[in-house]
Amino acid sequence: MEVEARAVRESQTTITELMVPSYANFGGKIHGGTLLSLMDKVAYATASKHAGTYCVTVTVDKVEFLQPVEVGELVSMHASVNYVGRTSLVVGIRVESQNIKSGIIKHTNSSFITMVAKGDDDKPARVPALILETKEDVKRFIEAMQMKDIKNSVREKMDDAKSNIEVERADEVLKNQRCILKYKI
Ligand SMILES: CC(C)(COP(=O)(O)OP(=O)(O)OC[C@H]1O[C@@H](n2cnc3c(N)ncnc32)[C@H](O)[C@@H]1OP(=O)(O)O)[C@@H](O)C(=O)NCCC(=O)NCCS
Repeated sequence: MEVEARAVRESQTTITELMVPSYANFGGKIHGGTLLSLMDKVAYATASKHAGTYCVTVTVDKVEFLQPVEVGELVSMHASVNYVGRTSLVVGIRVESQNIKSGIIKHTNSSFITMVAKGDDDKPARVPALILETKEDVKRFIEAMQMKDIKNSVREKMDDAKSNIEVERADEVLKNQRCILKYKI
């Protein structure tokens, strides 16, 4: 049976994982890629709970690692559906890492992942509307709408900029940049 709408709280998901030594990079900190993979998993779980279907990742926005994560810490990813379109969903994820001995919890990063629901025919499928029950739900929905508009206008500007790149003017354009121009114009 197709569900018309679901509340944000119905699909909210947290996953917690212990950061084991095999997740560390050569500097002894946890690999950014390990965290990205966990973020993708929690986004999938959250989006598919809301959609009631299989979902795929389309974009990952605003990934900034604010603080390093250490081996032995417990990382928790808190995710909610912030916004839904016709077939797409924006999942907001807050990542926190807890030092087991001291109990101190640090906010290591937040991110937004856009997922698209897929039907049995592998085509984008309509998702239930989002029921906004709290002030935070409303704030996040509006924020995601604004982000979508900003992303669309940035994409258009980037497309214009790309089609206007004049390699012939590289001498002038790259004057104060930290590159050595060996290409002969
Ligand atoms: C995402 C995908 C389903 C979009 O297919 P499509 O034929 O362009 O479908 P549509 O044009 O109908 O777009 C579907 C939705 O995706 C959204 N979308 C498409 N590209 C997007 C982008 N770059 N950023 C944000 N949303 C995007 C559309 O806005 C639309 O949302 P809406 O229905 O809520 O309005 C398709 O590109 C795909 O399957 N990509 C591969 C995804 C994947 O395999 N991910 C795993 C990682 S490798």
